[in-house]
Amino acid sequence: MAGLTPPPLPAPDTKARAVEAMFDRIAPRYDRLNRILTFGLDVGWRRRAVASLALPRGARVLDLACGTGDLCRELSRAGYRAAGVDYAAGMLAHNRSGAPLIRADILALPVAAGTVDGAVCGFALRNVVDIAGCLAEMARVVRRDGRIAVLEVGEPHRALLRRGHALYLHRVVPVIGGLLADRAAYRYLPASTSYLPPAGELEAMMAEAGFPDARCVALGAGAAQLLLGTRR
Ligand SMILES: C[S@@+](CC[C@H](N)C(=O)[O-])C[C@H]1O[C@@H](n2cnc3c(N)ncnc32)[C@H](O)[C@@H]1O
Repeated sequence: MAGLTPPPLPAPDTKARAVEAMFDRIAPRYDRLNRILTFGLDVGWRRRAVASLALPRGARVLDLACGTGDLCRELSRAGYRAAGVDYAAGMLAHNRSGAPLIRADILALPVAAGTVDGAVCGFALRNVVDIAGCLAEMARVVRRDGRIAVLEVGEPHRALLRRGHALYLHRVVPVIGGLLADRAAYRYLPASTSYLPPAGELEAMMAEAGFPDARCVALGAGAAQLLLGTRR
């Protein structure tokens, strides 16, 4: 992002603790900020992720890094049996989805292999220390022919849009986030997109993990991306 200086990101050995503490801090204001900062588009993105699973009603779907529960809520609304996993106690305390919740690291899920029909993960991939490990953990717990849907921040393809999006993320988001919640957190969140490999690489990582049909769909003109895959 030429001309925009990102804040320093935590080193791998301190990242998990720093991210957990940050989400505990912003938990009470997290949902409100999401709606404001995405102009409400995040609601449709989560709905699209859940619809993309296309599993039978009653299917068991794990929401990895469920946070305050927006995806758990969408899963239940779609007729799935949702359960959420997150390590931040503060985020879980604000999760009013009614789904069963487990406080755990999504890199070491306390779930037996092949026991869920699907998994979703919203805007958390860039927060984990090991993206390949996270995808491998999803592959471990999802049964054969089960489905996953992973939402993340994206990057618009068109140059002008990409520049505008970068300015918004790195200049506007920290100001609004600072005024309404926590400036350090809302500087980290856009900057942490640099942890994400390009879409093609993410698809290859998913294929390697056990989702050979992995594909990435751009949402909101590329502002978000949705990674989809079937466990084989
Ligand atoms: C940006 S929030 C997303 C919350 C929710 N998925 C959503 O769509 O709004 C990221 C969440 O990931 C959680 N998280 C990050 N790394 C994690 C890990 N290794 N294990 C469990 N939770 C993690 C954080 O605690 C936080 O609740």
